[in-house]
Amino acid sequence: MTVRDIDVRGKRVFVRVDFNVPLKDQKITDDTRIQAALPTIRYLQEQGARLILASHLGRPKGEVNEAFSLRPVRDRLSELLGCEVKFVGESIGSTVESTVEVLREGEVLLLENVRFHKGEEKNDLDLAQQFAKLADVFVNDAFGTAHRAHATTEGIAHYLPAVAGFLMEKEIGIMGDALANPAHPFTAIIGGAKVSDKIMVIENLLAKVDRLLIGGGMANTFLLAKGYSMGKSLVEQDQLDTARRLIELAKNENKMLLLPDDLVVAKEFQAQAQHRVAALDDVADDDMALDIGPKTIEAYQEAIRTSKTVIWNGPMGVFEMDAFAVGTNAVANAVAQVDGTTIIGGGDSVAAIEKAGLADKMTHISTGGGASLEFLEGRKLPGVEALNAKEGR
Ligand code: 3PG
Repeated sequence: MTVRDIDVRGKRVFVRVDFNVPLKDQKITDDTRIQAALPTIRYLQEQGARLILASHLGRPKGEVNEAFSLRPVRDRLSELLGCEVKFVGESIGSTVESTVEVLREGEVLLLENVRFHKGEEKNDLDLAQQFAKLADVFVNDAFGTAHRAHATTEGIAHYLPAVAGFLMEKEIGIMGDALANPAHPFTAIIGGAKVSDKIMVIENLLAKVDRLLIGGGMANTFLLAKGYSMGKSLVEQDQLDTARRLIELAKNENKMLLLPDDLVVAKEFQAQAQHRVAALDDVADDDMALDIGPKTIEAYQEAIRTSKTVIWNGPMGVFEMDAFAVGTNAVANAVAQVDGTTIIGGGDSVAAIEKAGLADKMTHISTGGGASLEFLEGRKLPGVEALNAKEGR
């Protein structure tokens, strides 16, 4: 169920949002996650709900720590909503209760970081009950935290009617549809440093896609498994069998598994390092692969551009260093040209798309890193599972 399915007028509505935004010197450096929660907040305000917003910020490990206070988020949210957002520096207790008591329809209270309480991450039911008693309805709009079974994402849903917000609905809807009912050709691009982080996502996607493109550090392990020497490149020796198994799986399922055909290598892991393009059989003992090469770029771009559905998770190289961002940028450009559905599954690929200035060319950019990865792995997300189902579903 979603916020559309319930009557919230005059009710106290506890909304779990993911306001875990990056901060530098107490200043928010990227407010995407706050912006993404606005449709749900505004809708609930218009419907006359009395809003109690809850979020975590960082990992304060159950201790009160001003560096992780949501106060800067309150200030930004006030600006964006154009109204006062109340804040009392606590998330449970008598001050919170008395503030909620006098909250009028459309008014908003932001609770302090829920992870200042140890019970939050332990999904302590006592704490969940304390949150629940503040409200009449629970709305979960925190897709980015939906893979965590915590007191404000899962526990609380046992004590209140529990529905999804618009962001949650959109994330699950777009990614779910792409996985369940994709327009073909369907291509997944998986990058990042480690095979071990992406085994499940590769396995799950291989069953659904037509083409799987591998890049980033994890490609090295696949290439080593195929017998190429990778010099000083990052490889996971203990994942060689996994890589072989995945190559075999792709073959058995008749899927196109694309691995790099050439690489950009350097002697040092440094932004200014001298670098060159190397064929797969030309990686010297002291070389490390830091990006995909031009032949690979061409092949990957062709596979991407001719697709109707694309899901991308993980960069093709060390994109934080300009010299090794060429492959990632080229892939980003190709994804931007796709005539179809394009989904950026959170984390580093989002940063890469934003750096390339192509964010508005994508169908959907997920606000969840870990959550979107787990969703793409085909795993059930506790924060979603805990919500009430629609009748007959
Ligand atoms: C995220 O940024 O991925 C979410 O906010 C979850 O944060 P966590 O990894 O600290 O649980």
